Amino acid sequence: MAPRTHRTRAAAAITALLFVGAQAHGSQPHVHEARANPVARADASSATSEASMAGILGDAAECVAYDYPPIDAALASGEIPPIWKVVQSVQSDAEGYALFQKLNASAPNIAPKGFNGTLNPNLNYDTATDPDCYWTATQCLTPKAPGLAPDVGQVPEPKTLGYGFDDGPYCGHNEFYDFLTTNNQKATFYYIGSNIADNPWQAQRAVADGHEVCVHTWSHPPMTSLTNEQVFGELWYTLKVMKLVMGITPTCFRPPLGDMDDRVRYFAQALNFTIIMWEYDAFDWEEGMNGVTNQTVYSNYDKLISDAKAGDMDTHGAIILTHELNTYTIGTAMNLYPQLKDAFEWITPVGVALNRTQPYVEQNYTQDNFAQYIAARGGPAAPASASSGGASGKASATGSAPGSSSSGASSNDQSTSATKGSSGATSTGVQVGTALLGLFTVAFALL
Ligand SMILES: *[C@@H]1O[C@H](CO)[C@@H](O)[C@H](O)[C@H]1NC(C)=O
Ligand SMILES: *[C@@H]1O[C@H](CO)[C@@H](O)[C@H](O)[C@H]1NC(C)=O
Ligand SMILES: *[C@@H]1O[C@H](CO)[C@@H](O)[C@H](O)[C@H]1NC(C)=O
Ligand SMILES: *[C@@H]1O[C@H](CO)[C@@H](O)[C@H](O)[C@H]1NC(C)=O
Ligand SMILES: *[C@@H]1O[C@H](CO)[C@@H](O)[C@H](O)[C@H]1NC(C)=O
Ligand SMILES: *[C@@H]1O[C@H](CO)[C@@H](O)[C@H](O)[C@H]1NC(C)=O
Repeated sequence: MAPRTHRTRAAAAITALLFVGAQAHGSQPHVHEARANPVARADASSATSEASMAGILGDAAECVAYDYPPIDAALASGEIPPIWKVVQSVQSDAEGYALFQKLNASAPNIAPKGFNGTLNPNLNYDTATDPDCYWTATQCLTPKAPGLAPDVGQVPEPKTLGYGFDDGPYCGHNEFYDFLTTNNQKATFYYIGSNIADNPWQAQRAVADGHEVCVHTWSHPPMTSLTNEQVFGELWYTLKVMKLVMGITPTCFRPPLGDMDDRVRYFAQALNFTIIMWEYDAFDWEEGMNGVTNQTVYSNYDKLISDAKAGDMDTHGAIILTHELNTYTIGTAMNLYPQLKDAFEWITPVGVALNRTQPYVEQNYTQDNFAQYIAARGGPAAPASASSGGASGKASATGSAPGSSSSGASSNDQSTSATKGSSGATSTGVQVGTALLGLFTVAFALL
């Protein structure tokens, strides 16, 4: 069959999806090596494995499109739906459709909050009573519908940052993943199914490096705008492509834009996902748009850092929304990592701070619990009862951590570094409001 020509660069695709819920596509011309270099350097088209892809450096070389036959076959057969399009139906997937129908019978009776994958600017939602626990309107984390668990908005461990990145795998992420490995740092990656189809070798690296992987939908739509079948399909097909490419079935989910209500929550929890939200937002994805500047993004990170230094994380930890979206967002993450290390005693994947020792349905992968993770990085020895990691898979954070001895990160004494106040920090609330206004404004403009 013809080579894939549908590769989309994540940044452009997600920018479009974030604002209009439209499909971003169009073929990306292959990037050519500079002619000045007479020796052809390796680029992604020469990769034959996760490991060979991981050795390619440089954004341009990493982002050269390549063929991955299992994805070609799955797209051709309809085993997975077209990339960067909102999933319309699961009816061609017998197992998925049977499960959907079973779950749909008990779904909360909440109408979609939009149409065609965009939110409805004229929704007139009652934020005072917030009947659907609609995060987008109220930042609600505790469901109203019976039988649903609350979302995770912060981590319970004090002075701890639940570290994670949305929207990957970004084709050019090798420098960032190298940086994390060098710093003996694991993170949670919320991967988009369409990006996995585009960048399968890169996707496999998250598992090989022992990071935690969660679902971030197939095509990045605002989930509350979709029908029940679309909501299910966006989750179901992301699991399918993760199993196909990465061999795993994650058990955690983060909704694009945080767009969550009890109907979406129901389907996510029926698929056994822990839902991971946040209380701090870097707005790094928006840099260069809607008046958000590099300085705004640094101010947003500074707010978290100054709050931590002021003691706000002395009884619980925090989660900040940041992205593996492009060289800007990952460069900013690397620039600010030392300051985060200084402000927090521990930086761990969210699931580690929750003791999610079995991150995937597959029983042969484990990740450290919190005690194990910090013990491997200069913290107190893990109690015997906490060291029952059992069979350690490839994803075991301890097993694959280079130099996982006490030479790793050491703690900082918050009591000596408390700095009150955060001059110039932009209010997260204002930023949320601005972003939503942007979303609604653009959606409205399209009507
Ligand atoms: C799912 O259930 C809702 C009722 O909650 C119903 O309106 C809808 O038609 C069902 N969808 C499908 C595809 O069966
Ligand atoms: C939704 O999309 C369909 C098909 O693309 C189109 O015919 C319809 O006009 C759209 N509706 C709205 C409200 O944009
Ligand atoms: C969710 O977990 C329960 C308990 O382990 C299991 O019975 C059920 O099949 C799982 N559901 C899905 C959709 O995997
Ligand atoms: C953003 O600002 C920081 C702090 O001033 C600076 O170090 C960094 O180089 C800037 N990044 C860009 C892309 O301008
Ligand atoms: C994780 O395990 C530790 C014991 O090692 C315990 O103190 C902590 O409460 C657990 N956290 C959660 C969220 O269960
Ligand atoms: C886990 O088992 C599956 C087969 O069930 C296999 O494909 C995969 O490589 C195994 N992973 C590890 C880390 O052993």
